[in-house]
Amino acid sequence: MEHRLIFVATLLSTISLLDLSSAREEGQRCIKNSDCDSGLHCETCVADGNVVPKCTRIKPISPISQVQTLPFNKYSWLTTHNSFARLGDRSATGSLIIAPTNQQDSITEQLNNGVRGLMLDMYDFQNGIWLCHSFGGNCYNYTSFQPAINVLKEIQAFLQANPSEIVTIIIEDYVTSPKGLTKVFDAAGLRKFWFPVSRMPKKGGDWPTVADMIQKNQRLVVFTSKRAKEASEGIAYEWNYVVENQYGKGGMVAGSCPNRAESSSMNTTSKSLVLVNYFRDAPDITQACKDNSDALLRMVNTCYDASSKRWPNFIAVDFYKRSDGGGAPKATDVANGHLVCGCGTIASCKTNVSFGVCPQPEAEVVPRTAPSTTNFGYSNTGPVQLLWLFGTLLVTLLMLFSL
Ligand SMILES: *[C@@H]1O[C@H](CO)[C@@H](O)[C@H](O)[C@H]1NC(C)=O
Ligand SMILES: *[C@@H]1O[C@H](CO)[C@@H](O)[C@H](O)[C@H]1NC(C)=O
Ligand SMILES: *[C@@H]1O[C@H](CO)[C@@H](O)[C@H](O)[C@H]1NC(C)=O
Repeated sequence: MEHRLIFVATLLSTISLLDLSSAREEGQRCIKNSDCDSGLHCETCVADGNVVPKCTRIKPISPISQVQTLPFNKYSWLTTHNSFARLGDRSATGSLIIAPTNQQDSITEQLNNGVRGLMLDMYDFQNGIWLCHSFGGNCYNYTSFQPAINVLKEIQAFLQANPSEIVTIIIEDYVTSPKGLTKVFDAAGLRKFWFPVSRMPKKGGDWPTVADMIQKNQRLVVFTSKRAKEASEGIAYEWNYVVENQYGKGGMVAGSCPNRAESSSMNTTSKSLVLVNYFRDAPDITQACKDNSDALLRMVNTCYDASSKRWPNFIAVDFYKRSDGGGAPKATDVANGHLVCGCGTIASCKTNVSFGVCPQPEAEVVPRTAPSTTNFGYSNTGPVQLLWLFGTLLVTLLMLFSL
């Protein structure tokens, strides 16, 4: 038994060594994540008919690595919907979770991949504040993920270790315990990063610059869905500052970008920030790669038109790593290109070049479908090698079955 396992392991590692000796760029074929360049991972998108694993983007270009002197509302941030609801997690109560999951990795991993907006559902539960999905408005063991403080401490550690990064938390707020949110943010050590409500523009003006927020160490922006908490706890009521489109099915109708009920209409410029949701009512990891690709980019453009020609500051998706190419990170790069330098992607922004001076030909806003992948060969992988590879895989599979 043990020998066979070792044999299988050796075969598998031989295959990967033989086939993939160097890192690969976006769109190139791969077998595992480590085959791809940094900022990419290896996946298929069967929903799009793409069954051959390719390296796809999971990380946007940091807009503040280009310029920090613009107001906060002149940047776009990759945002995860239900950031806490991680596939395969067991509830910290010990219970199995029978609630939808929306993401594939931890908050720390999301932050390290350039996610800067986190949507968190918070409830009173088990004498604390928990991250949870509701079932009839309540949190149960089997819909709860973990105490909010754990995740807030991850955010604290990230802000501490990265002194020029800014994170936004958008709370779907079910907390009714007195000062419940205040207590948990304080306990997590996040107070010292707090961006005060008093500095948020009330009439559609610009936010302070990112450089100013960094310099003052006010690098945590928090919004709640409970209006009263702005006065009682100094936590900004989201829709005083943000216009947001409909989430779920109603937000995925091509060509239309209606506001969600709680938000002013998208064209309300007295709210300086624009949030675009693009995810299904029921999260679907198999469809997410397709949703997060061209369809998302088109919706970003639709919402730009609906929002009085404003690019989204937050682009919120499920399974942010899933795409059939550049995905939500690319949509974020597109928005940042327009916001930061007036070009079709932030990849085109050059230091000290005037706004709107872009390389020719200009990058397209909506990309064509990725190049066809019918040609089945790498320069270093001839047909003979491939035959050998498939033969080996077959043998390996047969062996695994016979163990
Ligand atoms: C929920 O989990 C807690 C902590 O593990 C446990 O004490 C409690 O009995 C559980 N409740 C139910 C209804 O299973
Ligand atoms: C703003 O958008 C709403 C739809 O949400 C529309 O009814 C209204 O006419 C728009 N206003 C302007 C000035 O375009
Ligand atoms: C950009 O301009 C600033 C100020 O004019 C200057 O200090 C800096 O060296 C320039 N950077 C580049 C890359 O040209």
